[in-house]
Amino acid sequence: MIPGPTPVPENVLSCMSKHPIGHRSGDFQEIVQKTTEQLKWLHQTKADVLTITGSGTAAMEAGIINTLSKGDQVICGDNGKFGERWVKVAKAYGLDVKVIKADWGQQLDPDEFKRILEKDTDKQIKAVILTHSETSTGVINDLQAINNEVKNHGKAITIADCVTSLGACNIPMDDWGIDVIASGSQKGYMIPPGLSFVAMSKRAWDANSKSDLPKFYLDLNQYLKTVNKNSNPFTPAINLYFALEESLTMMQNEGLNNIFSRHARHQKATQEGIKAMGLNLFAKEEFGSPAITAVHPENIDAESIRKSIKNNFDILLAGGQDHLKGKIFRIGHLGFVNDRDIISVISALESTLDKMGQLKAPSGKGISKAISILNNA
Ligand SMILES: Cc1ncc(COP(=O)(O)O)c(C=O)c1O
Repeated sequence: MIPGPTPVPENVLSCMSKHPIGHRSGDFQEIVQKTTEQLKWLHQTKADVLTITGSGTAAMEAGIINTLSKGDQVICGDNGKFGERWVKVAKAYGLDVKVIKADWGQQLDPDEFKRILEKDTDKQIKAVILTHSETSTGVINDLQAINNEVKNHGKAITIADCVTSLGACNIPMDDWGIDVIASGSQKGYMIPPGLSFVAMSKRAWDANSKSDLPKFYLDLNQYLKTVNKNSNPFTPAINLYFALEESLTMMQNEGLNNIFSRHARHQKATQEGIKAMGLNLFAKEEFGSPAITAVHPENIDAESIRKSIKNNFDILLAGGQDHLKGKIFRIGHLGFVNDRDIISVISALESTLDKMGQLKAPSGKGISKAISILNNA
């Protein structure tokens, strides 16, 4: 139960155990055509959604280098490890980066974006770049509110890392008017790592026509040209496309609203179960990510809890990153997760704390709270 790679359904796995087909064959073209339509459905957009062989960071980098030019002013939101990554990518390409920070575990403040964007009367800011679900801390940023400020600015585009929010909560790309969305296969898509996706609005393509940052493998114009012929510029991870077609079909059968409400139920049951057993949430509940819940145990080494759950229950949780190592652990509830998984992890946690003599609430309080949410939400 880490936030990625997430569990892969058996039927998706078995789709991959076929001989690869030629990537210029008619059979492969059919898969590209179908998955491209399915990806548009998932992004709730009529815009282009392009598939890259590479991890989520490739899609993030593609978003930047295909829309911006050397020296462009950009704002990066940074309230965790993946916000930091945006800053690093933007600086690597010589952009003029202004960082809006929030402490790890806090949400980015849309008013800070508003203030800076309103002051930019000569429209020098070309992009606002942020992480939607900050996996390192379990915080969801208010993408809609920040994007509204970008829309009021009128010239900048929004580039969003939706790597752990797409397929977990509602992100209507066209309704909200988001310009670039980056995501990766090993998350809500329920398939192994190796594919990433960039959705580009018309405004993003307008920006692309002026963009002079260097690009070759990640030049999205090549992907656009070939996707229009149901193909791909290079040899893609063909077997991952088999998996993608199957997993997106599963998602379509479940339906977007059902997927979002399943994640919301699991998030709530996890949060409430943790509180009921006397543990602290790292991020406030109101801005907890639907994909991941970070737990901040007081006076106990978070790593010892995590290791004990792995050793005794074979459930893998994620640890804290950087300065949060040993301070927090993170429970992923993203993608192919069901009620049994939530019940197992909350019970395992409660049992582990009990064994360590660290359970602060009566035994069973956490799991009964989680079950009541699962049964009634
Ligand atoms: C929020 C977020 N952004 C981006 C990434 C992309 O990482 P990768 O390049 O390892 O797929 C991840 C992966 O964990 C993530 O959680």
